[in-house]
Amino acid sequence: MGAGPAGLVLAHLLHLKGIDSVVLESQSREYLEHRVRAGVLEQGTADLLDAIGVGDRLRREGLVHEGIELQFEGERHRIDFPSLTGGRRITVYGQQEVVKDLIAARLETERPLLFEVTDVAVGGFESDSPTIRFGHEGEKIELRCDFIAGCDGSHGVCRESIPEGALTVFEREYPFAWLGILAAAPPSNDELIYAYHERGFALHSMRSPTVTRLYLQVRPDEDLDEWPDERIWDELERRLGLEGWTLNNGEITEKGVTGMRSFVVEPMQCGRMFLAGDSAHIVPPTGAKGLNLAVADVRVLAEGLAAWFENGDGSALERYSADVLRRVWRAEHFSWFMTSMLHRLEDGDAFDVKLQLAQLSYVCSSERAAASLAENYVGLEHV
Ligand code: APR
Ligand code: PHB
Repeated sequence: MGAGPAGLVLAHLLHLKGIDSVVLESQSREYLEHRVRAGVLEQGTADLLDAIGVGDRLRREGLVHEGIELQFEGERHRIDFPSLTGGRRITVYGQQEVVKDLIAARLETERPLLFEVTDVAVGGFESDSPTIRFGHEGEKIELRCDFIAGCDGSHGVCRESIPEGALTVFEREYPFAWLGILAAAPPSNDELIYAYHERGFALHSMRSPTVTRLYLQVRPDEDLDEWPDERIWDELERRLGLEGWTLNNGEITEKGVTGMRSFVVEPMQCGRMFLAGDSAHIVPPTGAKGLNLAVADVRVLAEGLAAWFENGDGSALERYSADVLRRVWRAEHFSWFMTSMLHRLEDGDAFDVKLQLAQLSYVCSSERAAASLAENYVGLEHV
């Protein structure tokens, strides 16, 4: 269920193992291919997309980055990934581009991918034959399945269909949000800049040599109408600006406010239904982990399903939740750590500021502290 990164990568992995699946998606193809979301691929995510044959455009157009910069108290400090992580890097490539490549690959397999399905209901997952009922092109359809993969994101139906009491929810809301823009302007720096500033956090990212992606910390209830383009550029300039450095401006082509929260449900399975990606966990975007975690989940799930279909061995499926939750919680911690270190706390005091600055100067001056940040950022191989 769901044709985001989790559902599409899972379907492709199963296809490569000769296992049939039906992918159901409530939105249109057009919508999915243009929804602006995350953009950082860990080394392991990019390698997996390559290995399954959907990495051609990613290798051509993706921007390989060997570090990030942390900015505070008027200075930038570079964290170099390859030297701190045994040669690992990240690739900047928009999530909607990954989704485009995966949809094209799925359609090429001629296995089913149905867009704009309606009235989805899942049931019977505690039996041997779970069912999915849905509407498609005016018809009512019932699918009988061996398994259901709930890859339907944070507002999907799969998690909601699990009986109350079977899941435990772990949650944290943050008292701020990100106002994000896409601008038709060349990036002003070769690498991402994470800036801690007394007016609030700002992030300089990019999508291509001609498109910049920028974010500002704002209030969770921020009204976009109060942010004409000029105010956005002024605020970005204040928070990211340094002597001798200018922020390239350009037409703003996309503008939005996203709330920030941490959320995990345990276990990530109920009978023959497995949750993967955003349907089971949300991270604040500061660690750039959301898409990478979704891919890591389905990689484990595909192995478990293959063992079951190939030799009737259900042991890996039984362990699915426990196995993936170790990485999920590592990423939850890293995302919380980056978020707490870099954002201004509205009810924070001078003591909080001193602690944040102490942490920032530690990660920028101690090779061991920098290596810890770097290995989490590029993605841990074994968790
Ligand atoms: N039936 C079918 N599809 C559904 C339903 C439903 N009832 N509800 C939601 N969906 C679809 C959504 O339209 C969406 O396309 O499920 C898909 C879930 O995809 P994502 O939200 O992209 O989630 P996931 O694949 O887990 O990828 C996680 O998304 O939010 C980002 O930062 C996050 O990058 C991470 C990635
Ligand atoms: C992005 O480019 O959208 C992006 C980059 C880094 C983050 C979050 C978002 O931490």
